[in-house]
Amino acid sequence: MNNRIERAHWASRFGFVLAAAGSAIGLGNIWKFPYITGKNGGGAFVLVYLLCIVLVGLPIMMAEFLIGRHGQRDAVGSFESLEGKGSPWRLVGWGGVAASFILLSFYAVVAGWSFDYIFKSASGSLGGKTPEQINDLFGALVADPGRVIFWQFLFMAATVGIVLGGVRGGIERWSKILMPVLFLLLLLLFIRGMSSPGAQAGLEFMFRPDFSRITPEALLDALGHAFFTLSLGAATMITYGSYLPPDSDLFTLSVRITLLDTLVALLAGLAIFPVVFAAGLEPGSGPGLVFQTIPIVLAGLPFGSFLALIFFILLAFAALSSSISMLEVSVAYLIDEKGWRRNRATVLVGSLAFVLGIPSALSFNRWAELKPLFDRTFFDLFDLLVSSYMLPLGGMFVALYAGWFWKGEEEKNELAASAPRPWLFPVWHFLLRYITPAAVLIILLNQMGIWG
Ligand code: PFF
Repeated sequence: MNNRIERAHWASRFGFVLAAAGSAIGLGNIWKFPYITGKNGGGAFVLVYLLCIVLVGLPIMMAEFLIGRHGQRDAVGSFESLEGKGSPWRLVGWGGVAASFILLSFYAVVAGWSFDYIFKSASGSLGGKTPEQINDLFGALVADPGRVIFWQFLFMAATVGIVLGGVRGGIERWSKILMPVLFLLLLLLFIRGMSSPGAQAGLEFMFRPDFSRITPEALLDALGHAFFTLSLGAATMITYGSYLPPDSDLFTLSVRITLLDTLVALLAGLAIFPVVFAAGLEPGSGPGLVFQTIPIVLAGLPFGSFLALIFFILLAFAALSSSISMLEVSVAYLIDEKGWRRNRATVLVGSLAFVLGIPSALSFNRWAELKPLFDRTFFDLFDLLVSSYMLPLGGMFVALYAGWFWKGEEEKNELAASAPRPWLFPVWHFLLRYITPAAVLIILLNQMGIWG
């Protein structure tokens, strides 16, 4: 560790913004956001979600970047370089390493489905089918363990391939390719959505709030999703922040990343809902929305197969730019703390995550009836553990650390490093001290059935 070569840094701020936005923008935006918006009735949910992003998500993102940039090491090491070796705060780093590793294992399963759908759209097998036949295609895919595991493996291999290239040559370079293409494709689908006869209905659904639809469950969905979509609580943003130079303006960077993430979620909704309404389908059809409803809707349109191809490439790109950030958390830990070489760390962690993902892949077929705990399959258990507990808890501890424990002067200096804004520190600190921990506590108590 002592004879470490100079630590890698992003080549440019733009590259960093794209990489961090790439982490944030993923299956969460394009697959999950539209279906939970559908489930929770649209407009009012979108409003609450935006509030959670600004009041809870953005302050935590800034705190994660700050911790990483100050620590200049992986998540565990950054807490140690701030608080001294053996400090209990390193457990927060550890929690993040574990969360992003487990998340990677099952994220690759769903991301693999998008590979299969790219293949399906390109080979024309989505065309000329009835809605029932398209629904059955999804069922047939997930029921086939060999096929699911094959795509999961390919997706993991692609993730490993990028991370092997390192911070600049792998993550940053690929984010600069994946993200602009993603924006372009999304814009195309958005224009298609806005010119469909369902545009009006889609816009109203997303932006006309009906406050009677705001239930406690909708509030919790909004808050939980704010963590997931911004990649918070999994040490990803600490790790990415550690590759930042000391004079970067963290506030502006975080605002940009958050805006990009939000924009993509909204655009995805506006691409999807109009075509769903135009086809007279239900917006609240659940996780099958993008894999079943979207191909059904697109199959009926001119150039439908081509649009489907674009859509699933978009989904795969978004997933890939997120999965590389999950892998980088553990890889950075092994490099910085254990002195491993990047190649060895990347291949090992990628392989382990692939193996851990197999029970999740089998959860839709061979092991669909195997419910080891709480009447849930492995996939549902891992998802529950990470999305509902580890991310919010990780985010809360980051907030508690930055709000109450970290020496205020140091933080102030870090925040003011490039652009002095006298109002920023007090507002940020207030949100982290009171609002974030209270919000997380509410989600957790609710999840454990103690409240709400
Ligand atoms: N933000 C990603 C998405 O919306 O799909 C998911 C994610 C990535 C969560 C990385 C956490 C993480 F560390």
